[in-house]
Amino acid sequence: MEKSTMITLTFSLILIFLPSLTIGLSTYNVVSLGAKPDGKTDSTEVFVKAWNEACGSLGKSRIVVPEGRYLIQNAIKFDGRKCRSVAITFDVKGTLVAPSDFHALSSSATWLWFDSVNGVTLSGGKFDGKGVSLWNCKMSGKGGCPKGASTLAFTNSKNIVVRGLTSINSQLFHIVFNGCNNVKLQSVKVLASGNSPNTDGIHVQASNGVTIFKSKISTGDDCISVGAGTTDLWIEDILCGPGHGISIGSLAKDMNELGVENVTVKDVTFVGTQNGVRIKSWARPSNGFVKKVVFQHCTMINVQNPIIIDQNYCPSNKGCPGKESGVKISDITYEDIHGSSATEVAVKFDCSSKHPCENIKLDNVKLTYKNQPSISSCTYADGSTNGLIEPKGCL
Ligand SMILES: *[C@@H]1O[C@H](CO)[C@@H](O)[C@H](O)[C@H]1NC(C)=O
Repeated sequence: MEKSTMITLTFSLILIFLPSLTIGLSTYNVVSLGAKPDGKTDSTEVFVKAWNEACGSLGKSRIVVPEGRYLIQNAIKFDGRKCRSVAITFDVKGTLVAPSDFHALSSSATWLWFDSVNGVTLSGGKFDGKGVSLWNCKMSGKGGCPKGASTLAFTNSKNIVVRGLTSINSQLFHIVFNGCNNVKLQSVKVLASGNSPNTDGIHVQASNGVTIFKSKISTGDDCISVGAGTTDLWIEDILCGPGHGISIGSLAKDMNELGVENVTVKDVTFVGTQNGVRIKSWARPSNGFVKKVVFQHCTMINVQNPIIIDQNYCPSNKGCPGKESGVKISDITYEDIHGSSATEVAVKFDCSSKHPCENIKLDNVKLTYKNQPSISSCTYADGSTNGLIEPKGCL
């Protein structure tokens, strides 16, 4: 063959195969790769292998986890830094089971950790954190228990979708987003006992553009907690309880802290929770802030603190010199918040004497206590009311 013909031929072959490589969908089935869905055989290595293959393939890739129970005995880091794949979907029909001995994860902060990934979708599946024995250890008060591992975390990641997933009995937080951009979470269920310690449902921190939609959360801590540096967060159509409610904070953990800005919480029903909508900061110096928050169309059913801003958080009175929070809270709107309070004080604004809360707006709030009017309490809080307000405002 002539050299020029050969070059042309090679070139044509590349042109024929290149599109199928770049637009192809590669599928990796964990059972085909050797995982045994018997709930007893450790599948950690197979999941790592499936990730490495999916991450290394060009185009889009899919990891299939068929029905059955997969023991994941060790923490896994799904590292996205060297991925060539443009999108990876986890299609999970089965249940991932954490080790029953909590010591197995004692040196890990997270059981299933996605770091620096772009374009990952987690669809379906059940994640069983097996946290009960660790909670019991913590609640026994004997000490010597590890902190525990969060079940699922995404850090420094973008373009993430989590849908149709169930997370039960996490040792610590169930689902965490830290340092993420553009996250859509929907139709998620979180389930843990109402007295399980630190089992927050969803925790968002230092992230922009997170949407949490249509989910049911029952835990022993916050249904959703929002940490410093969260912006453009949207929370809608949530059923929360038991648990500690939806909380912005605790803030002012550090002197230098990013602010929380532009948060919308709407169509949430709280059932028997400790708090409804809460903003909470340590009574400590900080340059953090919370601004432009809207709580809208929320129903409270027997909630201890339906509406609360607490800037005097200082457990055991330790580490709060001067006892004034540096966090500036402003432009907070409560619109159409109704239902029943389990305590007499249904609305409580306990703000910082150094930086009083500014521009709090109450618009159509009706909260009763034992079918009677409830009361409100304001300290260093400034704002206005509109429409029917019960308890009578103290702004
Ligand atoms: C606030 O956040 C929402 C998403 O939750 C976004 O659509 C909107 O543009 C943001 N508003 C501003 C002023 O940035």
